[in-house]
Amino acid sequence: MEGLQDNRQRFSAYNETVKKMFQMIPISAEVEASSPDRCRTCAVVGNSVNLKKSHYGPLIDFQDVVIRMNRGRTKGYEADVGTRTTHHVMYPESAVDLDNTTRLVLFPFKILDLEWITKALNTGISYKERRLKANPDLVMVLNPVFMRYVHEVWLQKKSRYPSTGFMALVLALHICDEVHVFGYGADSDGNWSHYWEELRNKKLKTGGHPGDTEYAMIKELDQHRVITFYRGW
Ligand code: C5P
Repeated sequence: MEGLQDNRQRFSAYNETVKKMFQMIPISAEVEASSPDRCRTCAVVGNSVNLKKSHYGPLIDFQDVVIRMNRGRTKGYEADVGTRTTHHVMYPESAVDLDNTTRLVLFPFKILDLEWITKALNTGISYKERRLKANPDLVMVLNPVFMRYVHEVWLQKKSRYPSTGFMALVLALHICDEVHVFGYGADSDGNWSHYWEELRNKKLKTGGHPGDTEYAMIKELDQHRVITFYRGW
């Protein structure tokens, strides 16, 4: 993880940042406990172009929990991606405004991530002076060790670090009984292009993440019926 820091700050600086953050957000995020009486179903929605013309919208909206990420959007794409968002995973670089009932989920890996969330919630002004709207009572920040766990245990340390989407999927496996996976998979050129825009950077590939390993793992989980994977169109 150290290799991913922009600037090497001391551990005491990290501690101080975490302390300040927990003055703004709940110490423990509310997660519905598992129970024999109830099946918690989840849709994890990646941003793949394969969602276009998929008509997955109703199926996504049907799940209890709907996890979206980064610049993933619904407006104008409802038929393919649905309308509900209960959880939205984001980073300072990919932040979007949320409504009052959506949980903001952060998988921090650099001190800037933690500083950002505190500052953004405090003043509404954050990374690159952009304003952020989100309900502080619904913010959920994972322990930074979560990324290391996914990198080492799930992806055998392949590539630099796991993608947001793969971490969201592993989170879903921890908080849901049934996981439905949509919007994962590169385009025919091997790029991680999005359903709402034309790809500009044709050399994007999977952006420093172990895209092939992640995709192979998703297919394997599907084969073993741990998740249900909807491959798109
Ligand atoms: O591009 P972005 O990181 O916002 O996309 C969210 C996640 O969706 C990625 O981290 C990746 O796991 C997944 N994705 C994908 N195939 C694409 C685009 C995104 O698997 N074509």
